[in-house]
Amino acid sequence: MRHTSVGIVGGGPAGLLLARLLHRAGVDCEVWESRERGYVEARQRAGILEQSTVDVLRESGAGRRLDREGLVHDGVELRWSGRGHRVDFPALTGGRRVWVYAQTEVVKDLIALQLQDGPPLHFGTRVRAVSGVETDRPAVHLVRGAQEETVTCDYLVGCDGFHGVTRQALPPGALTTYAREYPYAWLGVLADVAPSQEELVYAHSPRGFALLSMRSPTVSRLYLQVPPGTDPADWPDGRIWDELDARVAVDGGRLLERGPLTAKSVLPMRSFVTEPMRHGRVFLAGDAAHIVPPTGAKGLNLAVADVVVLARALAHRQQTGSAELLDAYSDTCLRRVWRAEHFSYSMTSTLHADPEQDPFTTRLQTARLDRIAASPHAEAEFAAQYTGAPIG
Ligand code: DHB
Repeated sequence: MRHTSVGIVGGGPAGLLLARLLHRAGVDCEVWESRERGYVEARQRAGILEQSTVDVLRESGAGRRLDREGLVHDGVELRWSGRGHRVDFPALTGGRRVWVYAQTEVVKDLIALQLQDGPPLHFGTRVRAVSGVETDRPAVHLVRGAQEETVTCDYLVGCDGFHGVTRQALPPGALTTYAREYPYAWLGVLADVAPSQEELVYAHSPRGFALLSMRSPTVSRLYLQVPPGTDPADWPDGRIWDELDARVAVDGGRLLERGPLTAKSVLPMRSFVTEPMRHGRVFLAGDAAHIVPPTGAKGLNLAVADVVVLARALAHRQQTGSAELLDAYSDTCLRRVWRAEHFSYSMTSTLHADPEQDPFTTRLQTARLDRIAASPHAEAEFAAQYTGAPIG
């Protein structure tokens, strides 16, 4: 039986960045990821990094390609009722901005660093069971092919997502969960065509929400609100472009540049929070502890904030023997989590058309958007939330 100080379940952005930060602080750790490297590196996720996420990636040594290839964005455009309004981030927030750089690229950068530099990262290694969660030595029982192994830890961190095993291994009464499902989903596509606009466009329309984003100067990332359970096969390319044009149109505006679609998938939309984000020596971080609907792209940024707080607390514990910061971990993270939950919920419910929606609700949505355009205070609040607060 082996032992490590910090066992990390899950090699997505939360687990990989936590390992990076702990390694730099001299804390021994190890990461287990059930999927193979190729799968993890191909997973499509959102692509917006807050200012503080970029700062953390740079400080951890993972900012090189991001600085070369990431696209700095100083604003977004909101469209509704046939009009558009640009929100200028740096002007409204004292200089904060966001970066367009896909989560999958962040993951590739962190994997490359970790394989080159350590700590140990094991792909294709499934956690079959977690035991000892009520003791000082939680353990993971690992399976890789025909091999089995048990590793004990001083601390175990679940970075294994919403469906992960770590949260499920905690006693039922230990956690309270809060959840909401939305009556819509997103169809997300990648297109081999230069983005038709320089910044992101979030569009409210009677036909439903649409989002124009991008991955690079030559690749567009586009989203359409669709009913939950939609089969992407029911959306041939022409239908997707026609629907995007119909939803983002402003009077006299140009139609979108079209190009071949190279990926199509449907994303569920839910809100979910677990409290507390810790039980004994087991900690939860990122999607294992909380989910936001994608509008506003807070998921990755919240995961980064969690692991920054946790890495500091674990390093403090090793350096001083004090568990004070570990004891504060859940409350510290949950303050930011609930702020982001509210922002994501509010952006989602302002921009989407619920199939059952009454005209009164539609007018409330446009009143909210009108207010952002008319009031510097409302607009500055939106900009502050979108670009995100400093961590910790
Ligand atoms: C993207 C995703 C989002 O959810 C969002 O709000 C903005 C951009 C993206 O994938 O590019």
